[in-house]
Amino acid sequence: MSIRECFTYDGFFPDASWLSRCRMLLANPRYSALVLFRLQQAFRGRRRLSRLMARLNCVLNGGIEISNLATIGRGVDFHHTQGVVIGGDSVVGEGVHIFGRVTIGEKNGRYPRIGRGVRLYAGCVVIGGVTVGDWAAVGPNSLVGADVRPGDIVVGVPARSTRVLAGDPFAWAKLI
Ligand SMILES: CC(C)(COP(=O)(O)OP(=O)(O)OC[C@H]1O[C@@H](n2cnc3c(N)ncnc32)[C@H](O)[C@@H]1OP(=O)(O)O)[C@@H](O)C(=O)NCCC(=O)NCCS
Repeated sequence: MSIRECFTYDGFFPDASWLSRCRMLLANPRYSALVLFRLQQAFRGRRRLSRLMARLNCVLNGGIEISNLATIGRGVDFHHTQGVVIGGDSVVGEGVHIFGRVTIGEKNGRYPRIGRGVRLYAGCVVIGGVTVGDWAAVGPNSLVGADVRPGDIVVGVPARSTRVLAGDPFAWAKLI
């Protein structure tokens, strides 16, 4: 991905001037978390620059830490960036919603795969080589250490299913 593409990633403000993009980098965590992560990856061959982008992301956006090896799909939406950790070679699918203090991390050397459109609510933790199915939701402060079926809403520690939204896009859209 070119440096220019990093700034227009996901079609964020495609017509904005460079000056307003720079302002948004400071003012809009939703935008700057993605841009700085893309820059971090774009500079992967230049370690110091890549680390600088990661540090800037962490400082400007409330402590967000994303591993260089992680895959972040298009349209991922960081509703809040405070305390978000995405480790190792985690895969975050397209259009995933991430709230504050979410951890996607390692267990037994393996990292999660988060499906498309999944909602990871405030403070939830997803660890190990688990798969969270497309359009599922993980409730606040819940712990996921096993696979979650597509469209399932899971809550608690350990997370258990409360209801399944699969095949019901209207019910899914009602969730914040
Ligand atoms: C997880 C969530 C999407 C589930 O929504 P829902 O399907 O409408 O289900 P409900 O809220 O009615 O909860 C269903 C049951 O799960 C329980 N539950 C919900 N969230 C829970 C959690 N995080 N931990 C443990 N239990 C939880 C409820 O107490 C309820 O139990 P009951 O049936 O015994 O009364 C919703 O509760 C939620 O937490 N939304 C996100 C809020 C959030 O993160 N806001 C921060 C924005 S910054």
